[in-house]
Amino acid sequence: MKYLFELGHQPHISIEEILTSLEMEGVPLTWHNRDGNFLSVESDKAIDGTTLMQKLGGTLAVFEHIDRQDKKIEDCIVQTLESDSSHKKIFCLRGKDRKIGISIKKALKSNGYPARFIEYKNTATIFHNKLVENAGYFFVKDGEVFVCRGIQPLEQFAHKDSDKPGFDRYSGMLPPKLARMMINLAGVATPATLLDPFCGSGVLLMEALDLGYHIIGSDISDRAVEDSRKNIQWRKGEHESLRNLSSEIFCEDVQKLSRKIEPDSIDLITCEPYMGKPLRGGEDVSFLKRQAQELATLYLTAFDEFSKMLVPGGVVVFIIPKFHIRERWTTIPIVDDILSKGFELWEFENDKSLVYQRSGQHIAREIFRFVKN
Ligand SMILES: C[S@@+](CC[C@H](N)C(=O)[O-])C[C@H]1O[C@@H](n2cnc3c(N)ncnc32)[C@H](O)[C@@H]1O
Repeated sequence: MKYLFELGHQPHISIEEILTSLEMEGVPLTWHNRDGNFLSVESDKAIDGTTLMQKLGGTLAVFEHIDRQDKKIEDCIVQTLESDSSHKKIFCLRGKDRKIGISIKKALKSNGYPARFIEYKNTATIFHNKLVENAGYFFVKDGEVFVCRGIQPLEQFAHKDSDKPGFDRYSGMLPPKLARMMINLAGVATPATLLDPFCGSGVLLMEALDLGYHIIGSDISDRAVEDSRKNIQWRKGEHESLRNLSSEIFCEDVQKLSRKIEPDSIDLITCEPYMGKPLRGGEDVSFLKRQAQELATLYLTAFDEFSKMLVPGGVVVFIIPKFHIRERWTTIPIVDDILSKGFELWEFENDKSLVYQRSGQHIAREIFRFVKN
């Protein structure tokens, strides 16, 4: 069976999230290939696109291939729509001229079905017309026909992003979809306990809770702890199913965290750590080097603590920032030191690390994945 994934803004991270998630779900791939913003995969096992799209943070849609057996594209789509039990045929066609859409609509009408052709604008068009539930969203790529099996739950992400009660506009928040990708990159199945020791206002904790993890969050700032608590309580208030998951959030310096958490009790640690003072672009090299040294000390002490709290085989997905000022990169080269503390680097399929950088930003986040020996 062949599937097509439409990737989000950070395709290199989305791919790794998909590959790790499919492996975790026990879906072995016989082949995969990236073409720009798309990833094609083949597997002998079926992929449940609807369930998978409730999990992934970096994929916009997943499509299933339809074998058209030498039929014309129009005939293949008409036949697929007619084989569905609903009488009224509402469909959208992407990747082909609207003339083809209109000729499909005409063919359906002449076969006795009420039919409506919707032109593709964006995912919202698909969502509002319930085209995934009704198997009516078709995509033609390189002459092959696909039908959509799942789209990103955009409204759920937007709701959490804009309606949450705890909001810290000063210390910056991790984009929720990136938070979700980072959690999925750890490849740890639920039930399991996730720790975010730099939890800020709890963006990552909310995503972890939604994915079914028991959560522990900590931060050195009382304000952050209060925001995280509010957000988690709000989320649990909205969804009864989340109330069975344990959540503990408290104030603590990451460098002393193991005194509050049982040894060998955490399955995964995922976080965006403190990344230094916000940069304006005029900072001199000596300031950047000093800051990089301070962060190196903080992160390495944090890894000493992680090693005590994690179960053997526990996973850490961690961001090490690097700074770009006046065409020069200042990095924090601590990977070898982390490895000497009893961790292994679990490389991604295509890269050792994954870089996330928004255009115009002086900071890039480099995501690493470690496993405790
Ligand atoms: C980049 S923010 C994390 C933002 C968070 N991912 C979110 O989306 O809200 C870093 C956080 O680390 C916290 N922090 C700084 N130094 C710390 C330390 N030594 N121990 C624990 N937390 C610390 C800050 O208070 C801040 O909330």
